[in-house]
Amino acid sequence: MSTLPKTLTFDTSTSRANPTPQPMKRLTVPRIRQRKGGEPIVMLTAYTVRMAQLLDPHCDMLLVGDSLGQVIYGLPHTVGVTMEMMALHGAAVVRGSYHAAVIVDMPFGSYEASQEQAFTNAARLLKETGAAAVKLEGGRALAPTIEFLTQRGIPVMGHVGLTPQAVNILGGYGVRGKSDEEARSIVEDSVAVSQAGAFSLVIEGVLESIAIEVTNKVACPTIGIGASAQCDGQVLVTEDMLGMFERVPKFVKRYQDMAGVVDGAVREYADQVRSRSFPTEDQIYAG
Ligand code: KIV
Repeated sequence: MSTLPKTLTFDTSTSRANPTPQPMKRLTVPRIRQRKGGEPIVMLTAYTVRMAQLLDPHCDMLLVGDSLGQVIYGLPHTVGVTMEMMALHGAAVVRGSYHAAVIVDMPFGSYEASQEQAFTNAARLLKETGAAAVKLEGGRALAPTIEFLTQRGIPVMGHVGLTPQAVNILGGYGVRGKSDEEARSIVEDSVAVSQAGAFSLVIEGVLESIAIEVTNKVACPTIGIGASAQCDGQVLVTEDMLGMFERVPKFVKRYQDMAGVVDGAVREYADQVRSRSFPTEDQIYAG
């Protein structure tokens, strides 16, 4: 049975349709913040309008993650992602959603140089996409930037622990916080980001004890990925959880085998084209 809200007339019948649903109140940043310690927050990544339409009824937040670099563009990591990519995909996801708060990642190199650079690029992303907030990676070093943005009307989601944009410094995507010193540093980063005004905080790829300590210590909701079920919410890359890839990190649960579903459907199509059993009478314009 469809879980779409009753107030929403949702035309999902054709890829050419431009759905025009009844206006519906989106979840706002203050309402997300109020969920600290309450009902767990559901977040997934989305990069395209159709995926946004499918995820929106089930999610509190849609993240236009810079993981689109790998998932959509086949880049080796997120370092090559541009502002243009984030702006175009962000706008598509906003057009495809009516309920979830949409958060857009600030790409590597768009916010680290100065607070002014961060403001200019964050404002551009909000203007060009209609998203509710931006996300940026970093701890204590970025806290003053987060404060600068939030005091000027730009809600910020933080991201600590394993921060993929720092892959060239970290040397890979291994779990963070194995030494006492690193664990302490992640907790201090989290507290600094929260105190700077972040409305929520992604905590990625850390030992569970760190995720729990951070969740207990910070005022804003934590969103875990490879962290702990005790976080205030969870996020996954949608293509990972749908099984679009054969190999996924340990922390991903594959809820479907979409790669297998696509392979089966395309194999059948290819067989039918080659045997001239597609198209049939039903699919042709006769006379
Ligand atoms: O870019 C992304 O998709 C992310 C999530 C994995 C948290 O940052």
